[in-house]
Amino acid sequence: MKNSIKKYLAVVLVGMFLPTLLLAEGDPDKDAPLDALGPVPVQLDNKQTPEKIELGRMLFFDPRLGGDASIACSDCHSPKEGWSFAAPISRGYPATVHWRSSQTIVNSAYYSKLFWAGAAKSLEAQAPSAAKGGVAGNGEDDVMEARLAFIPEYRERFRDVFGDEWPLINNAWKAIAAFERTLVQRDTPFDKYMKDDGAALGEAEKRGLALFQGKANCFECHNGPLFSDQKFYNLGVPRHDGWLEDGMKQITFRFELYAKGVTEEDYRNLKDDPGLYFRTKQKRDKGKFRTPSLRYTLYTAPYMHNGAFFGLDEVIDFYNEGGGTNDFAANKTRILKPLGLTDDEKEDLLMFLESLSGEEIVMEAPKLPKYEPLAMD
Ligand code: HEC
Ligand code: HEC
Repeated sequence: MKNSIKKYLAVVLVGMFLPTLLLAEGDPDKDAPLDALGPVPVQLDNKQTPEKIELGRMLFFDPRLGGDASIACSDCHSPKEGWSFAAPISRGYPATVHWRSSQTIVNSAYYSKLFWAGAAKSLEAQAPSAAKGGVAGNGEDDVMEARLAFIPEYRERFRDVFGDEWPLINNAWKAIAAFERTLVQRDTPFDKYMKDDGAALGEAEKRGLALFQGKANCFECHNGPLFSDQKFYNLGVPRHDGWLEDGMKQITFRFELYAKGVTEEDYRNLKDDPGLYFRTKQKRDKGKFRTPSLRYTLYTAPYMHNGAFFGLDEVIDFYNEGGGTNDFAANKTRILKPLGLTDDEKEDLLMFLESLSGEEIVMEAPKLPKYEPLAMD
C-alpha cells in the first residue's frame, strides 16, 4: 500500500516537473532562430589574455608540437586554405594520409561538439587529441613538453602567462584554445543585415534567405547564429572517390576501425566511414555526422566529412535531389526530400550562402623562437 502511494506520488511529481525541466534545457525540437553571431564563449578556467593568445598563435604554427617536429596545426589548418586543408581528405602525419576532410577552425570556438562526429567537447580537449592522434600530430606529451623546455623564449612566455617554472603541455593546449577563440568572424553581410543594416543583403540574397528557411528547408538543421544544430545526420553523402582503391587511405581507415574498437565483422566489412557509430557503437548511428556551420564556407572547399563536393553549387544540387545514397541507407535522415528548386532559386540560395562569409582571415606564420641548450648552473 505504502509503496504504491510512493509510486503514485513519484509519477505525479515527475509529471508535474518534467516539462519545466525540459523547458529549462530549451525545447530540443524547436529550431533556434538564425541570428548575428554573439561573443565567443570562454571557459572559466582559461581566460583570454593578449599574452596567452600570442603564445597560442606561436604554438599553433610550431611543428615542434608533433611527433617528428615537422607538422604543425597550421599544416592541416592553413590560413591560406580557409584554415582547413584544400583536398577532399586531409594530409596526414608524414608517411600517412588522414581519413577525413580537415575542418576550418574559424568559428570552431562556438561548437560544444568538435570533430565531424562530435568527439571532443572543448577546444582545450580537442588540441591534445589533434597533436597526439596517430595520423595527425602523432606527438608524445613528454617529448613535446621537453622540446618546449629547450626554448628559452617559450620558458619565459609560459612563466609569464601561467606562472609555471617550466612549460606544461596542458598549458600549451590552453594557449592554443585561447588563440583559436580569436579566429571568429562576426561581421559578415548576414550579421550586418541581422543587426539592422537592411542594405547589407541584396535582393537575391534575401530571396535566398527565404528559401533557406522555407522551400529548401536548410534551416531545419543549419539553425541558430552558428547555422548548426550540432546534431547528427546521415545525408547519404557518397563515398569519397577513389577511397576503396587507395591503399594508404585503406590502411588509415582500418587503423581507425581497429583503434576505435569496432567488432571484427565491421572491421572486415565496413567500406565507408561510419561516423557517429564509432562513439556510440549503435547501428542507427552509422553514417551520421555533426551538422557543420555554414559560416566561412566560401573559403573551405571541398565540403562534407570526406570532401565529396568541390563547390557550394554542387552541395545545393545534392540537396535539391534529396541527398544521396551511401552504405548506410537505412539510417538516412527522412528530413531530406527532393526540393524542386529552379535554377534561379538555386542561384539565390548560393548567393545567400556566400553572404555568410566576410573577408578572408589572413595571417602570416609568426617567427618561431629557437632552441638553446639549458644552462648548467
Ligand atoms: C594531419 C592533419 C591535422 C593536424 C596536424 C591537425 N589537424 Fe585539426 N583536424 C584535421 C582533420 C582531418 C579534422 C577533422 C577530423 C575528424 O573530424 O575526425 C580536424 C579537426 C579539427 C578541429 C575541429 C573543428 C570542428 O569544426 O569541429 C579543430 C578545432 C582542430 N582540428 C584543431 C587542430 C589543432 C589545434 C591542431 C594542432 C594541435 C590540429 N588541429 C592539428 C586535421 C589535422
Ligand atoms: C537533415 C539535416 C540537414 C539539412 C536539412 C541540411 N543540412 Fe547541410 N549538412 C548537414 C550535415 C549533417 C552535414 C555534414 C554531412 C557529412 O559530412 O556527411 C551538412 C553539410 C553541409 C555543407 C558542407 C559544409 C562543410 O563545411 O563541409 C553545406 C554547404 C550545407 N550542408 C548546406 C546546406 C544547405 C544549403 C541546405 C539546404 C538546401 C542544407 N545544408 C540542409 C545537415 C543538414
